[in-house]
Amino acid sequence: MLTTRPATSNDALAVARVHVRAWQDGYRGLIADEYLDALRPEDRADRYTLGSSDPSDPYTIVAVRDGVICGFATTGPCRDEHADANTGQLLALHVDPSAWGRGVGRRLIEEARARLHSLGFTEAVLWVLVGNERAQRFYRIDGWSPENIERTVELWGTSIDDVRYRRALP
Ligand SMILES: CC(C)(COP(=O)(O)OP(=O)(O)OC[C@H]1O[C@@H](n2cnc3c(N)ncnc32)[C@H](O)[C@@H]1OP(=O)(O)O)[C@@H](O)C(=O)NCCC(=O)NCCS
Repeated sequence: MLTTRPATSNDALAVARVHVRAWQDGYRGLIADEYLDALRPEDRADRYTLGSSDPSDPYTIVAVRDGVICGFATTGPCRDEHADANTGQLLALHVDPSAWGRGVGRRLIEEARARLHSLGFTEAVLWVLVGNERAQRFYRIDGWSPENIERTVELWGTSIDDVRYRRALP
């Protein structure tokens, strides 16, 4: 059975394992192999903010199947320059590749949207890698639209080209 719950600081390593595996499979061909192959969960684990009750901090929910974390979603206020106060952001959504296509992402994104809505946000944005067709199709089916806004950022030590998607939170 699939369940979800808020992440705590004790989940950091399990979240980081999912994070690294999702990057290694999901971003293969989009980011250099040498970079992806060198990723280590231990390097990411102590850089998350997990379990904070401050609504201006990132908030992470984890999906758990058979006692194992198989995905996570992180939300928070929009971090973009000039963002208005009504706009929240889906900061991360990653599912372990062994669990793709079984509804984990769908469940997490629904809960992420509900969380943003409950904080009073009426709109949300997310950034997704240019060329990440699997994720972009997933977001479009979930009602998000590309905005024709791109950026290049340094993320976890590599340079990434992203496109922004937006969705209303009715
Ligand atoms: C993008 C991502 C989060 C999607 O997660 P997921 O768990 O595979 O998503 P779901 O299973 O909910 O949906 C994926 C597909 O499975 C289908 N599906 C949903 N529930 C299902 C179920 N119970 N049984 C079978 N298929 C199902 C969905 O309809 C969808 O199909 P479609 O793409 O043809 O529409 C995941 O692929 C991932 O982590 N990718 C790598 C990292 C990444 O790109 N993250 C986004 C960063 S911006």
